Formats: sequence, structure tokens, C-alpha cells
Amino acid sequence: MATSPNASTTDFRAFHGTLIHSVTSAEIDIIENGLLVIAPNGKIVKLEKGIAQGDVNDQLSEYGLTADSPSFTSLPRGEFLIPGFIDTHNHAPQWTQRGLGRGKVIMEWLNKTTFPHEARFADPEYAQKTYGLCVGGFIKQGVTTASYYGSLHGEATKILAKVCMEKGQRAFVGKCNMNQSSPDYYKDASAEESLSVTEDFIAYVRKLDPTSELVTAILTPRFAVACDRDVLGGLGKIASKNPDIPIQTHFNETIQEMEITKSLFPEFDNESDLYEHFGLLNSRSVLAHCIYMDEYDTGRLETLECGVAHCPVSNTTSGNFGVAPIREYLRRDMKVGLGTDSGGGYSSSIIDAMRQAFVVSKARELNTNGEDKPLSINEMFYLATLGGARVCCLDDKIGTFAVGKDFDALEIKTMGEHSGIITYVEDYDTTEDIFEKFVMSGDDRNIARVFVKGRSIK
Ligand code: GUN
Ligand code: FE
Repeated sequence: MATSPNASTTDFRAFHGTLIHSVTSAEIDIIENGLLVIAPNGKIVKLEKGIAQGDVNDQLSEYGLTADSPSFTSLPRGEFLIPGFIDTHNHAPQWTQRGLGRGKVIMEWLNKTTFPHEARFADPEYAQKTYGLCVGGFIKQGVTTASYYGSLHGEATKILAKVCMEKGQRAFVGKCNMNQSSPDYYKDASAEESLSVTEDFIAYVRKLDPTSELVTAILTPRFAVACDRDVLGGLGKIASKNPDIPIQTHFNETIQEMEITKSLFPEFDNESDLYEHFGLLNSRSVLAHCIYMDEYDTGRLETLECGVAHCPVSNTTSGNFGVAPIREYLRRDMKVGLGTDSGGGYSSSIIDAMRQAFVVSKARELNTNGEDKPLSINEMFYLATLGGARVCCLDDKIGTFAVGKDFDALEIKTMGEHSGIITYVEDYDTTEDIFEKFVMSGDDRNIARVFVKGRSIK
């Protein structure tokens, strides 16, 4: 055993009951009578299946626990543990504009709805207040890891990183780079300034969380439309000098954005060549949307092992109805997870994103004359958990309950005072039924507790 029990063994935590996690993109493991033990450092040290209630004490004794310990939880029928949700694409400043500007196409939405709002984050006090609400709101909904775009402001983005750290959420946080095609009141003053604020932000996060236990800086060119060649090239250089730092941007999101990109960068035939040229496409890249894809773009992302952040709510409720080829990504075993996109959509719930991913996959089935089958419940759940972990290159750390991983988890309750509006759980429901009812009709009222690295944060 990696972690040897010692005198402070009361710090171990354990659960007995139903545990559900993904095994592959299509298969889940429903572990009945599972016993999970978490060490004081937040790592899972034991995962046993089929432990009878009467044998629990025996199994716990080496950790200084008994079934009566306050840090032991027995999960009755209707309750289960799942890995925490991973939001692979989220704009933190848009927390306070969610749902606004439906129907506007991307540039109109950015210029009329988003940029005037994000500009408010020049005020650190506003940032402090809003980011507290934002991170708290996502935690409440079970998001244990989020990849956040900040605003363009260095100060406000530092506040966001600090809030994540203080609230205990695992996060990638990026200062948004944007020095062109944006209004004067909301744009980086120059390429040099855009890059120096980024470097200063990276240094700040390295100090805040030197070993990236929770918070990691992420390079965040908003999209090529908003970044000139110097910014894109400069960020590519920072990426190559810092192989631990991930990268995020928007990729093939709308026809309008793709046409503007083409007119600004006529030397490139497509966005893959563009971002690859500037050193921004690799296994650490988290690419939001990836809707309008041809074989060339898909092949490049597959070869370069880029992650796809599927944002089905924003893709279908902003200007267009975008149907991303998720079945194709899964077929190729590409890395794909879910994003709320915050203000790009209207919902900050990954449960909503799972359901909308299903709706989009039904549209895709129609568009492909039945060739691309819709997502199953298991696949929706995979995208929200292990798929997201793979996108963030964190699947060795989170995404399942494997021994050695960090305990990032949600304690789900579907009955009694926690039932909320979930489809009523009947006496004859199987665990599969209850799980399906949660995915298709549950909400944050069913998320009783949220854990990151073994620490209870809701
Ligand atoms: N493209 C550039 N910026 C944004 C943004 O804030 N949201 C979305 N959905 N797309 C973008
Ligand atoms: Fe976005």
C-alpha cells in the first residue's frame, strides 16, 4: 500500500455503498457494496467491490476507522458516489451574463453582449464579488474541475485563480489574449502587453500553487480573430518553454468566425494549420466547439492528440444550431469532454450539458441518415467525467475511482429531502434506473456533497 496508516488515521475517510464510474467511453462500472477509502492526502487508497455490511469494520480497522466514525459514510439505497464533473470550457466573467443575447451570431454577440460585460472586470472589486459567485455556483453544481477563460485583465484573472484555490476547486485559469478585432475599450493595448501580462499571470499562479495541486495557468488566445500573429507566435513560444502549461482556444465554432479567420490569415487554408503553425496545437490543447470539421481538421486534431470541449448548449442556442461530430470523435478515440461555455450558453450545469449532448447527437443521427448513433447514457456520463479528465490530461489523477487517483467526487442523493425534482424513485427501480433518472432529470439538489482531493467543498 502506497500510504501507510499512521497515528493520525482518523483523517482517513471511507464510503460504503454504490459507486459508479466509467471504464471506457461506452461502459460504466456500477459497483454495489463498494468500499472506498481515501487517505488524508486526498488519494484513493482502497477500492473493493462486494463488501457485505457486516465485513466493513474489518476492512476499515487498518485505517483507524469503524462504521461509527464521523468520516465513514454508509450510502443507503438511492444514494451513490460518482466522479466530479469536469467543465472543459468555461468563461468565468460570463457568469453574470448567462442566457443573454440568444440568437445573435458570434461577432454581434461578442460586441453587443459580451465585451461590454467582460470590460467590467477592470474593477477588481467587481471581479472579487463575481468570481466568488461563479466558482461557488459551479461547485454547487458538482464541477470539481473547470477550465476557465478569464477576462483580458491580469489583476482580475489573478483574483479568479485565488478564488479557485481558496474555495478548493481544481482549475485551469487563463488570462484571455485579444489584441485585435475588438473594441478599443476592451482589447490588449499591444502584443507586447498581452504577452507580458500573460507571463506575469503565469508567475503568479506558480507562486500561488507551485505544484499545481489545484490551480494551473492556461494559455488562452481567445480565438485567432482576436489575436495578431505576434500574440499567437508569442504564446506558442511560451507554450514550448513551459511544457506543463495547457492551451485553450475556440476552434471552428461558427461559419462567420471561420470566414473572418480566413480573411485575416489568408496564408492558412484552415484553423488546424493556423494554430499548429504558431505552436498552439498539441496534446495540451483544449479546443472548444470543433463543430464545422472536415477530414483534414479532424485528422490533424487526432494526430496531434488535441482535446475537444463539446459545448452543446451554446452550440445550439447562440446564433446557429451547431451539430458537432461527437460520434466521430468517439469512434476515433479522440479526447472529448463537455463544456458549459458559461455565457455562450444559458446553463452552468454539466448535467444539462450531458442532456443537450444527447439532443445534439440525435440531430447528428438525422444528418447522417442514421450512421452516427446517438449517445448512450454511459457515453454522456463519460464525457462529463473521464472524457473531460482526458481532455485536460488529468486522467492519471481524476475521472474515476481507481486506487492512486485523487478523490474528486459527488455524493448523489435521489430520495427524501434531496429528491428535488428528479423523476420519482420507485421501490422496484434498479440502480441503473436510478442512475438514468439522475442523469436525465436530476439537478444540483441531488448533489449533496462535493469533494476535491478528498476535501469536502460543498
Ligand atoms: N469566440 C470568441 N470568444 C468567444 C466567447 O466568449 N464565447 C464563445 N462561445 N465563442 C467565442
Ligand atoms: Fe467559449
